[in-house]
Amino acid sequence: MVEMKIRTGIPGLDDVLAGGFPAKSTVLLEAPPGTGKTTFCRQFAKEGMLENQRCVYVVTSEPVAQTIAGLEALGVKDLDKICFIDGYSWRVSGEIPEQPANVHVMQSLTELNELTRLLKKEISGFGGGARIVIDSISDMLLYAESPSVFKFLQLFVGMVKGSQAAAVVVLEEGLHEPRHVATISYICDGTIHFRLEGNKRGIYVKRMFNTVHPLKWIPFSLGAAGVEIKVSDFFA
Ligand SMILES: Nc1ncnc2c1ncn2[C@@H]1O[C@H](COP(=O)(O)OP(=O)(O)OP(=O)(O)O)[C@@H](O)[C@H]1O
Ligand SMILES: [Mg+2]
Repeated sequence: MVEMKIRTGIPGLDDVLAGGFPAKSTVLLEAPPGTGKTTFCRQFAKEGMLENQRCVYVVTSEPVAQTIAGLEALGVKDLDKICFIDGYSWRVSGEIPEQPANVHVMQSLTELNELTRLLKKEISGFGGGARIVIDSISDMLLYAESPSVFKFLQLFVGMVKGSQAAAVVVLEEGLHEPRHVATISYICDGTIHFRLEGNKRGIYVKRMFNTVHPLKWIPFSLGAAGVEIKVSDFFA
C-alpha cells in the first residue's frame, strides 16, 4: 500500500522528501535558536489551511497572538479554523484575557496530562492529511520532569499513528542533555536539522520514516515567504 504524503509547503522540501512527510509520522525539527524553526512550523500550518485540512497548533514558545500575527504575515486566512493550544500564557503574570473558542489555554506545562487530553480530543477522528505542530518540546523539558515529557511524546506519536495526520515537533539544539535528545529523536519518526553559519543557512534531513532522501546539507534561504530550498541546490 502506498502511504499518503503530507506536503510540508516548504518550497523545495517536498521534492527532497518525494512528496512530503509520510502520513502518520511525527517529525522532530531539531535546530539551534534563531535558525527558522518557528517559520517552518507556520509554513507547515499554512499549507494545511491551503489544502483545507484540520490543523492543531501547540504554542509554548511565544504568545499565541504572535503566532497568529506570523501566520497572517505569511498570508494565512481563516485563522479561526486552526485549533491553538496555548502553553505559553500560564507562565506570564497577570490576568489572561478571554480567548476565542479556537484557543485553549493550558493551566501549566509542568503536568502534561492536560495537554494529552486536549490533543486526544482534537486529533480523534482526524481524516485525510491533517497536521499538528508543537513549538516546542524544549519548553516542556524545561518545566516538566523528563520522564513525563517522554511519556507525553510517546502517547502523542501514537495518536498521530492512529490518524492520517503528520506532526512537526520542535526541539532547541544545544539546550538539553544528549541522552534526552537521543530519547526524543528515538520516539519520533524522522529528524530534520537546520544550521546557520555566518549568513549561510542549511537543512539536513537525517532520517524520515518510509522515505528515501539525500543525506546532505542543503542550503536554504529565509525570506518574506519563509524557508525556501532551491531545487537546483538539492540536485547539485
Ligand atoms: N521573513 C524573514 N526574512 C528574513 N529573516 C527572517 C524572516 N523570518 C525570520 N527571520 C529571522 O530569522 C530568525 C529566526 O526565525 P524563527 O523565529 O523562525 O527561528 P527559530 O529557530 O524559531 O528561533 P527561536 O530559537 O528564537 O525560536 C528571526 O529572529 C529573524 O531574525
Ligand atoms: Mg521559534
